[in-house]
Amino acid sequence: MNIEQKLAKLKLRDELAEAGGGEERRAREHKLGKMTARERIEFLLDEGTFEETDKFVTHRTTEFGMGEQVILGDGFVTGYGRIEGRLVFVFAQDFTVFGGSLSETNAGKIVKIMDQAARVGAPVIGLNDSGGARIQEGVRSLAGYADIFLRNVLSSGVVPQISAIMGPCAGGAVYSPAITDFILMVDKTAYMFITGPEVIKAVTHEEVSKDELGGATTHNAKSGVAHFLAHDDAECLSMVRELFSFIPSNNLEDPPRKPTTDPVDRSDEKLDTVVPAESNLPYDIKDVITRVVDDAYFFEVQEHYAKNIVIGFARFNGRPVGIVANQPNFLAGVLDINSSIKAARFVRFCDCFNIPLVTFEDVPGFLPGIQQEHGGIIMHGAKLLYAFAEATVPKITIITRKAYGGAYCVMSSKHIRSDVNYAWPTAEIAVMGPEGAVNIVYRRELDRAAKEGVDGLTGADAFNKVRAQKIEEFRESFANPYVAAERGYIDGVIRPRDTRKKIIQALEMLDGKRDKNPAKKHGNIPL
Ligand code: HXC
Repeated sequence: MNIEQKLAKLKLRDELAEAGGGEERRAREHKLGKMTARERIEFLLDEGTFEETDKFVTHRTTEFGMGEQVILGDGFVTGYGRIEGRLVFVFAQDFTVFGGSLSETNAGKIVKIMDQAARVGAPVIGLNDSGGARIQEGVRSLAGYADIFLRNVLSSGVVPQISAIMGPCAGGAVYSPAITDFILMVDKTAYMFITGPEVIKAVTHEEVSKDELGGATTHNAKSGVAHFLAHDDAECLSMVRELFSFIPSNNLEDPPRKPTTDPVDRSDEKLDTVVPAESNLPYDIKDVITRVVDDAYFFEVQEHYAKNIVIGFARFNGRPVGIVANQPNFLAGVLDINSSIKAARFVRFCDCFNIPLVTFEDVPGFLPGIQQEHGGIIMHGAKLLYAFAEATVPKITIITRKAYGGAYCVMSSKHIRSDVNYAWPTAEIAVMGPEGAVNIVYRRELDRAAKEGVDGLTGADAFNKVRAQKIEEFRESFANPYVAAERGYIDGVIRPRDTRKKIIQALEMLDGKRDKNPAKKHGNIPL
């Protein structure tokens, strides 16, 4: 064979690998509104940067007529490339080849890039679209999954791992994405479940559609499994790029800064009046966030889940931060099981990857109720407390209004190593709200007023008069930021309009922060 013939052979092999499962199957994917695996990678990465690995790998199965169905690459496209010039490793499951199913050999391709990514300190992005374990391979395919799960765990906290679910993801296959840091799902085409509708019907007699059971809306709004909902492939892949712009490539790097023209000392008068005069009225904490961050740009995470807490990324003077904020607009911003879990995982992600935390606090406490208690609010609320206390990244807290009870301690208080804590003049920092406190502390006095009368009033009128007085007294004495400020539990009371400047100053002061937890194998977060 001369060199021309050898080059022609290589070209033919390249073409065969790139053809995947063939024209007909590709057309089927397009008809469903899906891109193919290669199109997805091309869309995701900077143009012309993709370097494919293991393009000619084939499966080794001969049973069930598989010997005659060999496709170069075996249905997964793997390799590395660049996003905004930064190195990333990527795999995409090609549904046109055996339904994107996982074989012993294509699992090996993923394992190879995961190992390489961990060695060079670059993220792994998985584009999942697979019928699960390749049925014809039996336990060899399961072994492949377990090999990947192990890498997911070992890489956790070392390099970021991002999973886009862009088609089926069923059975144990869901556990690789579940271990990764972020899950994005495409509406209508993606679904994730441990057992599908058929099995559920057989076992529990419940009837449910695939989408209802494990579609993008379900996992974004109900289960909290997913972090982002995209309307199509293009939006999903753009979101991956956007997400990556906020996070470093590994745990030894700082997140990348993005120059901004937004002035560091920009003050915003509207902030002075954003908190309503009546302390039980709602307002939108996202309005506060967008008014203080660079260019009003907030990239929200888990937007549709546990809306009583808001989490996401933003930048201050170009520097990425993770934001955690109680949302008075939803359930009064109370902490419950779901919001505690949501925020705790986010805090831990930021801490893994050197992303400072900025907390906006307006929380009336933990949600009372039998369902919450029996659901384990003690254990789940403790997750958030643990996560904030354990975090050694720069931590800044702004108390806009309520900081009551245990929630005061939990929401990145000074006592659990927050670095800079400010309160607005509207802050109320106390064990509980004035109404609840008065009912307990002055019960005898209120009962006596009702019985004996006060200022010519009797019964309920007397009771209410004394109660109103006591509430006012309590509010004056305790429901303000100054008791905490006198103790040094906050670093200062600031004018709301200056919040952006104060946060940026604090972040700059904390730039060189180095803090450590005691040496240990690992802590035992209440899971
Ligand atoms: C081999 C598979 C496959 C699989 C699909 N295909 N899943 N081949 N192993 N797991 C093939 C089909 O034979 C078909 O081949 C092509 O992929 C497209 O599949 P269709 O069924 O035509 O597509 P669609 O109608 O869109 O349905 C998609 C699907 C369905 C819902 C994913 O294919 C399906 O239910 N597959 C099986 C899912 C499953 O039970 N997997 C095992 C889960 S358990 P042709 O040649 O016709 O194009 C598991 C354990 C992991 O994964 C454990 C880890 C710990």
